[in-house]
Amino acid sequence: MSNKTLAIIKPDAVNDNHVGEIISMICKAGFKVKALKMIKLSEDAAKAFYEIHKEKPFYGELVEYMTSGPCVPIALEKENAVEDYRKLIGATNPANAAEGTVRKLYAKSVQYNAVHGSDSDENAAKEIAFFFGSKELIENYPA
Ligand code: RTP
Ligand code: MG
Repeated sequence: MSNKTLAIIKPDAVNDNHVGEIISMICKAGFKVKALKMIKLSEDAAKAFYEIHKEKPFYGELVEYMTSGPCVPIALEKENAVEDYRKLIGATNPANAAEGTVRKLYAKSVQYNAVHGSDSDENAAKEIAFFFGSKELIENYPA
């Protein structure tokens, strides 16, 4: 069954000019773009998006990182989207990421790790709704 996930090209990768290469990897891996934008998160928005991590020691730094510049959220669709996208991006820490993954290629550290990916279908739906209104999701193309 086809389902959705939310990718974010994070501020470090945008700043390093890797947006095009990362989108190319995503599309070549068979994901279909349903919605995409560039946005600079406010502190409140970054805090809300990563609220699940609010008790973690890295939360403050994570919010600072995610507000340090623009990022590119992308709603994606594919069979097994959540799991396949996380395979494509590789482990959180690039030192543990498999060869050829996005994080192996573009992440600098466990914190500055280039991309985000939803971790469940339930969170994917919430995260897509965080960035995109229903009218921004293109459901049926090509016609
Ligand atoms: P993400 O949510 O961004 O897709 O990353 P993830 O599931 O692979 O990792 P998660 O545990 O959810 O962590 C969220 C983000 O927090 C930053 N982080 N910093 N300094 C640290 O030890 C540390 N650990 C995590 C990373 O930017 C990570 O992607
Ligand atoms: Mg996560």
